Amino acid sequence: MAQEDVFKKVVSHCKEYGFVFPSSDIYDGLGAVYDYGQNGVELKNNIKQYWWQSMVLMHENIVGIDSAIFMHPTIWKASGHLDAFNDPLIDNRDSKKRYRADVLIEEQIAKYEDKIEKEVAKARKRFGDSFDEQKYRETSQKVAEEQARRDALHERYSKAMNAMNLEELRQIILDEAIVCPISGTRNWTEVRQFNLMFKTEMGSTADGASTIYLRPETAQGIFVNYLNVQKTGRMKIPFGIAQIGKAFRNEIVARQFIFRMREFEQMEMQFFIKPGTELDWFRTWKEKRMAWHQNLGFGAENYRFHDHEKLAHYANAATDIEFRMPFGFKEVEGIHSRTNFDLSQHEKYSGKQIKYFDPEQGESYTPYVIETSIGVDRMFLSVMCHSYCEEQLEGGDTRVVLRLPAALAPVKLAVMPLIKKDGLPEKAREIIDDLKFHFNCQYDEKDSIGKRYRRQDAIGTPYCVTVDHQSIEDNTVTIRMRDTMEQQRVEISQLRGIIEDNVTITSLLKKLK
Ligand code: GAP
Repeated sequence: MAQEDVFKKVVSHCKEYGFVFPSSDIYDGLGAVYDYGQNGVELKNNIKQYWWQSMVLMHENIVGIDSAIFMHPTIWKASGHLDAFNDPLIDNRDSKKRYRADVLIEEQIAKYEDKIEKEVAKARKRFGDSFDEQKYRETSQKVAEEQARRDALHERYSKAMNAMNLEELRQIILDEAIVCPISGTRNWTEVRQFNLMFKTEMGSTADGASTIYLRPETAQGIFVNYLNVQKTGRMKIPFGIAQIGKAFRNEIVARQFIFRMREFEQMEMQFFIKPGTELDWFRTWKEKRMAWHQNLGFGAENYRFHDHEKLAHYANAATDIEFRMPFGFKEVEGIHSRTNFDLSQHEKYSGKQIKYFDPEQGESYTPYVIETSIGVDRMFLSVMCHSYCEEQLEGGDTRVVLRLPAALAPVKLAVMPLIKKDGLPEKAREIIDDLKFHFNCQYDEKDSIGKRYRRQDAIGTPYCVTVDHQSIEDNTVTIRMRDTMEQQRVEISQLRGIIEDNVTITSLLKKLK
């Protein structure tokens, strides 16, 4: 199946099976805002738990907080968001559609890269087993030409972005003959800067209302609580503060479902360290975070690092962990070495001293910070895209199955009476009443057993149990595994032991090094 089709199917599957709905659906939705349904919220909570426990439970020196979304407006001046959290925008005069100039150019770069990959794929097909890919890439005239075009564009674009040269960004769009996908024309306006923060008012006008902002990242809530946590928790450097919470950005190019949203959730951890040790800690966190992702078993080939060439003025290293989505490798998490920029800025703007007294060195300093920042919704999307599977079964039948890691699955066990009488529903409920304290169980008695299995496959339930007449006599049931569809007869008393070890977040954490 073409990757584009996979993505479309994932989006409609999310809606059909109660994972993700457009926000305000009965009013035709609200751009780039989504709601999580009955199954989505369970999967999302499991992702958050996996992250939180891997950070806070598994590290003695990392603690969590939950800071408010509304914060003092000066925080955004200090952090640089008021002045510099901008996107370069361009409008097409014919379609009246607005685009991010940088995204238009990046898509053009991706087109050159696609052409190269297509050339290589064609050659691979032509030469079969004897194909030497590296040699072909080095010697093919066509590949060399496309690579040269791509590299020249990339260099020109990087320079323009580094200098935030808006005229040059526009000129690149014109020179590359980039057209508006709606109107098909090149009738572009100037490029302008657009601040991504949402504003609102706090207090009534009579009181002298002040403008406040919906936080565009959770990180600043951690920085401004650094002193509170360090002092009350008697934390010693190196230590980390973790937080999960909502963030808001007035994204202009809000596309690809929950990949780029205006209201989304982040899981961020700021790790406070001694100046001079940051590059070692940066490497450590890169490895740890990649291990966390790969521990889900989606295959190492589906992840890659993308080291930033263009660094923010306060960062001295930055990388993204990218995942192979159906629309290409895309950023899911950022890891940044942020120096002491944020704490120093808050020291300056608040007038409070924000230092750490290092008892071993006998001196005070402003700690440096390594940040790990992952979007819950992007993580959710990567899990859904990788798990969605259409399978051809023997006898010409097909099934849609979500091959979710069992620890992330919304429902762990479905219990189904074969028929709705003869005491079978009561027996099924007895099983649920016993197991519901340990994991999420669902009772299902409607339709044929085959249809019920399909329903559970579609939401990724790893185990289904069928209660039949024999169950009343000898306390045994049939347990069916989602992935293999194998069935076994087991004693009811064994169920917890068989299922629990495989479906808990602890089972995932134990595999993490
Ligand atoms: N504190 C650093 C920070 O916010 P970022 O790279 O802007 O860094 C971190 O964002 C992560 O948040 C991204 O890797 C992505 O997973 C998620 N994210 C950012 N903007 C998003 C959006 N509009 N919709 C969904 N997720 C987003």
